[in-house]
Amino acid sequence: MIQRDIARWAKMVEKYLDEQIPVSSTLHQSMKYSLLSPGKRLRPALILATGTMFGQHEQNLLPFAAAVECIHAYSLIHDDLPCMDNDDLRRGQPTNHRIFGQAIALLAGDALQTLAFELMTRKTSVSDSIQINVIRTLAEAAGMQGMVLGQTADMEAEQNREASLEDLEFIHLHKTGKLLQACVVIGGLTAAVSPSDHEHLRAFGGHLGMAFQIVDDILDVTGDTAILGKTVGSDEAHGKLTYPSLLGLSEARARLHSVQEMAFEELSALSVDSDVLQQMLSMVVNRDR
Ligand code: IPE
Ligand code: IPE
Ligand code: MG
Ligand code: MG
Ligand code: MG
Repeated sequence: MIQRDIARWAKMVEKYLDEQIPVSSTLHQSMKYSLLSPGKRLRPALILATGTMFGQHEQNLLPFAAAVECIHAYSLIHDDLPCMDNDDLRRGQPTNHRIFGQAIALLAGDALQTLAFELMTRKTSVSDSIQINVIRTLAEAAGMQGMVLGQTADMEAEQNREASLEDLEFIHLHKTGKLLQACVVIGGLTAAVSPSDHEHLRAFGGHLGMAFQIVDDILDVTGDTAILGKTVGSDEAHGKLTYPSLLGLSEARARLHSVQEMAFEELSALSVDSDVLQQMLSMVVNRDR
C-alpha cells in the first residue's frame, strides 16, 4: 500500500535532514523547528514515488527529496511572516517567527534554501549531467519564474476586486504548482525517462499542483484547525484570491474534479504502471490536512 511507503519515505527523509543540521546556533534550532515539524512530506514522496516507478534506487533520490523539503520549509516560514500571510499556526505549532522572531525566521528560510542546493550536489550514482538538470529544474521551479513569482502575484492580488480567474490560475500554478510539478519531473529525470513520459509527467505535475492548491483553498474554508494544523479562515481574513472566494465552494469542487480527471489521463498515457501516482493524486484530492 502506498500509505506504508509514504510513511517509510517520510521517516527516511526526516532522519537524513536531521543529520544535516548540527545544532550550534539559534539559526540551526530555528531551521530544525520548521523543517522537522510534522508535515506531510508530500514533495519528497513524489520524487521517491516517480523515481522508483521508473526504476531508480531510493538512495539516489534521497538528497533530491530532502532538498525539495528544505525549499518547501523555507517557503512556509517566509509565507507565514507578518509581511506575507501573517499566520500564527503552522503544522499544529506556533509559526517560526512567533518562537524565534522575524529576523531569525527570515534567516532560517534563507539558510534552508541554500542547504537545498548544497544537498543536491552530494555524490549519488546518477550521472553529472542528470544531476545538473535536476538542480536547474528545482532552481527554475522555486525561483523568479516559479514559486517566488507566484507568491508575488498572490500578494499583489490581495484585496484586488478586479482579479480574474486567469490571475487565480497563474497564482496557483506558480506559487504551488511549479514545485510539485518539479518533484514529478525530477523523479523522471533521475531515471532518464523517454521524452514522451517526460511530457506526460510534466503535464500530470501541473494538474496535480493545481488540484493541490484548490484543495488547500477549500480546506481553509471547510477544514478543522485542529486537523489542518493551520488557522482555518486565514484566507478570508486576509482578502486572498482563492477558488472559493472567486467561484464559491461548489464551483471550486467542480473545477477540482475536472483537474483531477486531466491528471489521471496523463498518468494513463505513461509507459509504466502508474498506480502509485494515481493513489497519491487521490490522497491529495481527498485529504483533510
Ligand atoms: C502547504 O503545503 C503550502 C502550500 C503550498 C499550500 P503542504 O500542505 O504540503 O504543507 P505540509 O508540508 O504538509 O505542512
Ligand atoms: C502558499 O500558499 C504557497 C507557498 C509557496 C508557501 P498558502 O499561503 O495558501 O499556503 P498556506 O495555506 O499558508 O499553507
Ligand atoms: Mg500565502
Ligand atoms: Mg499562507
Ligand atoms: Mg492556503
